[in-house]
Amino acid sequence: MAPIEGLEVEVERILPGGMGLAHAGGKTVLVSLSAPGDRLRVRVDREQGNILFASIEEIITPSPVRMEPPCPYFGRCGGCDFQQLTYEAQLEAKAEIIRDCLRRIARLENVPDIAVAPSPNNWRYRMRATWQIDQEQRTIGYYERGSRRVCDVADCAVLQPELQEKLEQVRATEWRQFPHALKHLDAVAGENGVSLSPAFAEFYTTELSLTIRGEVYHYNAEAFFQINLSLLAPLIDFALGDATGENVQDLYCGVGLFTLPLARQFRKVIGVESNAAAARFARRNLQHAGLMNARVISATVTDWFRSAAVGPVDFVLLDPPRAGAESAVIKGILDLRSTQICYVSCDPATLARDLKKLIGGGYVVDSIAAFDLFPQTHHVETVVRLCLKSQT
Ligand SMILES: C[S@@+](CC[C@H](N)C(=O)[O-])C[C@H]1O[C@@H](n2cnc3c(N)ncnc32)[C@H](O)[C@@H]1O
Repeated sequence: MAPIEGLEVEVERILPGGMGLAHAGGKTVLVSLSAPGDRLRVRVDREQGNILFASIEEIITPSPVRMEPPCPYFGRCGGCDFQQLTYEAQLEAKAEIIRDCLRRIARLENVPDIAVAPSPNNWRYRMRATWQIDQEQRTIGYYERGSRRVCDVADCAVLQPELQEKLEQVRATEWRQFPHALKHLDAVAGENGVSLSPAFAEFYTTELSLTIRGEVYHYNAEAFFQINLSLLAPLIDFALGDATGENVQDLYCGVGLFTLPLARQFRKVIGVESNAAAARFARRNLQHAGLMNARVISATVTDWFRSAAVGPVDFVLLDPPRAGAESAVIKGILDLRSTQICYVSCDPATLARDLKKLIGGGYVVDSIAAFDLFPQTHHVETVVRLCLKSQT
């Protein structure tokens, strides 16, 4: 399709995925990097059925919630897509995204008002990142928007200072020291330094530690760890509440962020995690804490449900990756008939898809909270507590 240029639109609101919604000539127009209330001249880059995907050519009248993106890479770098919004507008857009998914996808009636808890730092907050490396072009940074070209980033304004410093050290390393096949580096910070994976030159996959709500977690760059430390304590508080009982399953448990506090509130805990390094750290973290009432299974959650003899369970916590839980996992959870479920999610759309199935299986939503773990991007962490209908 030849690009359509000069189309005038007004952005109504921000949709899940972060694009602005507008309408023109009976078509839906999705505008990247826009703000609600923007009057824009846009260029249509792609058409899919009745939907036009567009980018901004000119801002005719800026939205009152629009601001000048401070990062010089904004627009080119695929990392942050909300820098054009004031921080208050980012939080409001995320609350609307969650409400929209719960209404439209989960078909939840009476969606409550959701206030997204702000991040105390909305810049320099990221303690984990993946840096892309193009040795031919000699660029290190993040993928460009909608492409696999590497945007060369010298200063990433959302990285914690320790991680930014490590990025600068990596960038200052002579190219001949980079392993030939190295295409990306995972980096994570902790209280005692920064860990990189894979290790090369003078960069090591150091073991790190971090204390949250009095629990000590060990991990390294080979295992998942959350991105924004500042909201993890209230997130765990909300996810667990004062739940107690005999048995709990912590699905997609990582290095045990929820497993340790769960092991203090329940008599027996099972954590399930497919990444071998993360499962090893989870076991060690439990052991160091003296929590002998928890077992960590190294398996996919699907395989766990396929193989395990399921007993009665009081509480299930699941915190899957962005794609959400596989259908077999939702079926496995429903078969457990636990009295309570806590779903922790970094994607409101897949969360809503899975909630619809859980609600169809006899659960009702008890409470919802959201945490802005990812300022300057459209991503948001949502926690939904559910209980079996007969328990309300
Ligand atoms: C969003 S993280 C949550 C980890 C942990 N709950 C935390 O908050 O740190 C998802 C975790 O699920 C793991 N994972 C991904 N797919 C999985 C699967 N099919 N079965 C089990 N674990 C999986 C990842 O390795 C990662 O540790």
